[in-house]
Amino acid sequence: MQQEVIVTTAVRDELGRILARHDVQKLLLVVDAAFPLLETREEYLDLPLPCAIFDAFTSNPLYEDVVAGVSCFRRQHCDAILAVGGGSAIDVAKCIKLYSGLDETRLYLDQEYRANDILLIAIPTTSGTGSESTRYAVIYHEGKKQSVTHGSIVPRYALLDPRNLVTLPLYQKKCTMLDALCQSIESWWSIHSTEASRAYARQALTLILAGMDDYLQNRDSGNLNMLRAANLAGRAINLTQTTAAHAMSYQITSLYGVPHGRAAFICLPFVWEYMWSCVAEDDGAGALRELFSDIAHALGHGDVAGAIRFLHALDGRLFAEDRLHFDAGDIPQLVASVNPTRLSNNPIALPEEVLTELYRAIVRKYS
Ligand SMILES: [Fe+2]
Repeated sequence: MQQEVIVTTAVRDELGRILARHDVQKLLLVVDAAFPLLETREEYLDLPLPCAIFDAFTSNPLYEDVVAGVSCFRRQHCDAILAVGGGSAIDVAKCIKLYSGLDETRLYLDQEYRANDILLIAIPTTSGTGSESTRYAVIYHEGKKQSVTHGSIVPRYALLDPRNLVTLPLYQKKCTMLDALCQSIESWWSIHSTEASRAYARQALTLILAGMDDYLQNRDSGNLNMLRAANLAGRAINLTQTTAAHAMSYQITSLYGVPHGRAAFICLPFVWEYMWSCVAEDDGAGALRELFSDIAHALGHGDVAGAIRFLHALDGRLFAEDRLHFDAGDIPQLVASVNPTRLSNNPIALPEEVLTELYRAIVRKYS
């Protein structure tokens, strides 16, 4: 499905035009806990049509939350969905759209997914996941992470409004930015990368580097650049999926409560260091060496080793005040929980003994 990405601060007018174009009668507004803090919230509450609000979910949304959202959508006779929030709100909205077209008497997760014509609009209030432009959603069922994937859940419109980042706490800004950074780098080296995905990843990475300081100082131009970058990185992983750093990060988040983007960023330089050691002296790996050099250049470094040192140092620079402590006793559990699907997208295989070594190095750094 063709998606329109619109950069705007005239959200109310833009939404008015979209809703009229699609003849929407009643909107389900899906918002998260940060909605009341948004500078722009009144603009969504003042739209020229009836709206129902759904906010009964948390940051790791449950399947049951989505079922409640589907009931709300049906009970309120809505015909379109507008998500305003971080990745979780957008993921919930995607699932409400998808499941609203399925049989409500059976478990939605077991059914064959099919497209429906419910209009979905997404307005991200963080610059990280790029969920507003992907076909993925993550929800939890009976304690297990479920990746819901379907082409039809890419929102028809994504509206990027930098005003939405102004009230985001700095720690969250750092962590979500790092998700976009990891997604762009991992997408770039994913075995599924294409010319188009690499172009998105390159643009995303360039914008992240150029806009990082302004973004962290909460300047409008920095916020806008980071929203664009996260969106581009989202479009890149929509084509390629993520790789080993993401695969290794999920259990760090579960065990230690480290936010997703920071957890992926903890793993990234170690994964890259290992891969670089595999290809640096290998004459048969010229293409991968060149690709790694391209990524290093986008990060502003003439060589890969320098780019990896930069990433290690960035972690220290961003989180000097906020140290983490991991436990060597958890390494077997960390290794056993690595997501095999994401791992299989990596350009170099990481067998169990390598994963163990990588986690050992991570624990040494964060102990
Ligand atoms: Fe991510």
